[in-house]
Amino acid sequence: MVHQLRIGSRLIEEDVVTIATVDLGYIERAREGKFDLGWLRDSHAEWGIRARPSRVGLTLRDIAVGSYGEVPDHPPKRTMAPRGCDVDPDVPDMGYSINDKAEVWSDNVMELYEEAVSRQWSATRDIEWTELPELDADLEHAMCQLATVLSEVEMVAADFPAKWLWRINHDFVEAKMFLCTQVMDEARHTEVFRKRALAGGGGLGKAKAVVEQFLKVILDAQSYDEGSALMHLLAEGLVLSLFRAGELLSPSPVEKKIFRLCMQDEARHVAYGTMHLRYRLEREPALAPDFHAYLDRGEEIIAALFATPEVVEPTAILAAGSLKAAEEMGVGVSDILRTRMIEEYLARCDRAGLPRRGRMRLPEIILAGTSGGAEACVEGVAS
Ligand SMILES: [Fe+2]
Ligand SMILES: [Fe+2]
Repeated sequence: MVHQLRIGSRLIEEDVVTIATVDLGYIERAREGKFDLGWLRDSHAEWGIRARPSRVGLTLRDIAVGSYGEVPDHPPKRTMAPRGCDVDPDVPDMGYSINDKAEVWSDNVMELYEEAVSRQWSATRDIEWTELPELDADLEHAMCQLATVLSEVEMVAADFPAKWLWRINHDFVEAKMFLCTQVMDEARHTEVFRKRALAGGGGLGKAKAVVEQFLKVILDAQSYDEGSALMHLLAEGLVLSLFRAGELLSPSPVEKKIFRLCMQDEARHVAYGTMHLRYRLEREPALAPDFHAYLDRGEEIIAALFATPEVVEPTAILAAGSLKAAEEMGVGVSDILRTRMIEEYLARCDRAGLPRRGRMRLPEIILAGTSGGAEACVEGVAS
């Protein structure tokens, strides 16, 4: 039955519960001990199915037992009801738009969630801020500029999953829970790099339009497919490679620890993105050209980042150890780092089942030494 409900100035007309529809006589009957007990007697949930803890405790994998462990490819309803419970037939439709498991699932998502929960850390407590050394001014500026860029880009990896979370069918709850951990991880990454910029006296540096443009492409993605490929696979993959080079870039053990802790988190996000794309393409191989198109566009903006002084020069100075040493070396170290980033990205695309070797349409000066460009592919085939 359709009811009218006024909330503030809004008049809602739909199948809503109002006091007029409630059986108030029940309160009287319950007072007299005349319970309904329908929930106790008519349950079709799997009574007797007992999840047993494994070595580390009771994990998501441990409770994926009986029908509770069966994640439907196409859930029959769009509700917030916990998967596997008995559901009222007249539950409201939550309007989720992501209702195919393959759109968000990955085979490692339960393990990644468990790892995320067990490896949370604190940017306040776990970084030895009092041991931050006084650095040469150029080095401090370089570190602060890098921290500014990282503090800027990290938050999009929270905003993007947060934007899509409520659209994801609740039957894929493990994937939703994992994305929640990503949101928390990225908040901490934003925090730790902001703190690093302010803790050494250099303060925040410059935010560039080109960086913001890339973030906007991710945020404005028309589908989870598009945004996830651009963010989990491409952008976060490159950031992961940068964190991996933290040993080289860190002017002190304090930054080394920051990069190491961020790297652990980032590896999970990239592992999800890679395995999710694999899962998606194994079930819908016809989507491969769409994903190639998303990445064609994303790589073009990334190429612009590789030609942005505010992004390139801090890493060159940090890796060389001083501005003078960096000027003498040119951006040679940055070239090595860029080559490594592109190769690691290409390897990830291979693992995801979307080989990009030989497909990248970036200028030769950026692809030199990598197997990304068409020429590199031809050479690779010939050798
Ligand atoms: Fe991050
Ligand atoms: Fe991330």
